[in-house]
Amino acid sequence: MTHVLLEKKDHVAIATINRPKALNALNSEVLADLNELVDTVNADSEIYALVLTGSGEKAFVAGADIGEMSTLTKAEGEAFGKKGNDVFRKIETMPIPTIAAVNGFALGGGCELSMACDIRLCADTAVFGQPETGLGITPGFGGTQRLARLIGPGMAKQLIYSAKNIKADEALRVGLVNAVYPAEELMAAAEKLAATIAKNAPIAVRACKKAINEGLEVGMDEAVVIEEKLFGSCFETADQKEGMGAFLEKRKHEPYQNK
Ligand code: CAA
Repeated sequence: MTHVLLEKKDHVAIATINRPKALNALNSEVLADLNELVDTVNADSEIYALVLTGSGEKAFVAGADIGEMSTLTKAEGEAFGKKGNDVFRKIETMPIPTIAAVNGFALGGGCELSMACDIRLCADTAVFGQPETGLGITPGFGGTQRLARLIGPGMAKQLIYSAKNIKADEALRVGLVNAVYPAEELMAAAEKLAATIAKNAPIAVRACKKAINEGLEVGMDEAVVIEEKLFGSCFETADQKEGMGAFLEKRKHEPYQNK
């Protein structure tokens, strides 16, 4: 991968989008690298959580690459949207939890990428927005869908129609991010949360993610059945036996084994 750096700390992977000269803008090469990142992380059974951030101090991701998009035909535009959507959907459906550590501009495709992650933490310097209508296009990597689901249609429509950016405190207020940190503390906070998640039983954590994501896509009657099946799937695992056994024996559980 040329434009994505991958580091591992215990059971946590930290991926950094690394195209700082273009504020980490997403061109086809970066999208291909993100696709490869997901394959690499999914293939590693020792990774229990992923933190995704941007290189440099200025941007998480400043959007899809405007230079690359500027000359596209209608058909090519649709294909470029599909390319981004496919990768982002792949990120969203990764079995392990993902945390976007938004370290600066998260505009257009950058805001959309953060929304494909399970959790968004940001620096106090972060700026979010969907500036696409100001460029003559719609958000194209899931923004019209995920923003409305995340913060509600009223506020999503205001942000998208107006193309106005919002700062970190406003992003927190509307529920786009879970927490804001001083810029220099963001990565430590994201890694700490990822490590906390990674300490819990990985099979159970993955089942929670699947239950929440898949349950939100169906009606409640179907959703509770999804939960029941995933709840059941945790039983008879070594980690379930250890977790409950430790509680009953009034001791701390041994580190979970992902079994
Ligand atoms: N695409 C391509 N290049 C980009 C880029 C983008 N989205 N964002 C920044 N860059 C490049 C700039 O062209 C510039 O390159 P050069 O040095 O070669 O000129 C470099 O990154 C640094 O950017 P600026 O000089 O503009 O930095 P700044 O601090 O003055 O401004 C900014 C920062 C406000 C983020 C500004 O760069 C900006 O507005 N960027 C575009 C943001 C945007 O509109 N994003 C949405 C794209 S559309 C989209 O994402 C569609 C979709 O949903 C799929």
